[in-house]
Amino acid sequence: MKIRKLVPEEYVKASALLHLAFPESAYETELVENLHRNGKAMHEWVCIHINKIIAYIAFTNAYHGSAVCGLHLAPLAVKPEFQRQGIGSELLRFALRQDVIKENTIFVVGKPRFYQKFGFEPCAMPLCPFDKNNAHFLSLRNNTSSQFTVGYEAEFSGR
Ligand SMILES: CC(C)(COP(=O)(O)OP(=O)(O)OC[C@H]1O[C@@H](n2cnc3c(N)ncnc32)[C@H](O)[C@@H]1OP(=O)(O)O)[C@@H](O)C(=O)NCCC(=O)NCCS
Repeated sequence: MKIRKLVPEEYVKASALLHLAFPESAYETELVENLHRNGKAMHEWVCIHINKIIAYIAFTNAYHGSAVCGLHLAPLAVKPEFQRQGIGSELLRFALRQDVIKENTIFVVGKPRFYQKFGFEPCAMPLCPFDKNNAHFLSLRNNTSSQFTVGYEAEFSGR
């Protein structure tokens, strides 16, 4: 298995993977398609197994007002038949070691038990606009003390 950056020629394949990984929701697939279409700043990596994309991870800018204050991790997806074999963990660990990620503040909405294994901690501040009471909002290298609601790219508001 190889991990590398996603290239634009593979956007359709990434969409197909997201559709399989999130069968009950079009949100994640449409989110990534809209981010691509609108040329938003993204950091994306994929796992390749026998020339096929089997996992995908993306990061987009997090905002405090108009200033970038970190990155949002979303989505992370593994093809269903490859889930629970350590691939999502491996891709996440790889991404967290990359230069553009490793010294940045990272935010994620997800299962606390999963993300805490990678050093994420429950995030009290900033507030996440998509997660009531920040119940599933975690962060890494976050030293925010002021109260504000973190901004996302506009494409995230389609939920
Ligand atoms: C969540 C997901 C990315 C994890 O990747 P993975 O390769 O299956 O996970 P790993 O084998 O590395 O690690 C296993 C851990 O992932 C978590 N996990 C696995 N499948 C999961 C699922 N369907 N939903 C939520 N968490 C899951 C669990 O914490 C699990 O730990 P456990 O076995 O001790 O309970 C993957 O299962 C997936 O794509 N699920 C569907 C899409 C999704 O829910 N993405 C979530 C974030 S946007």
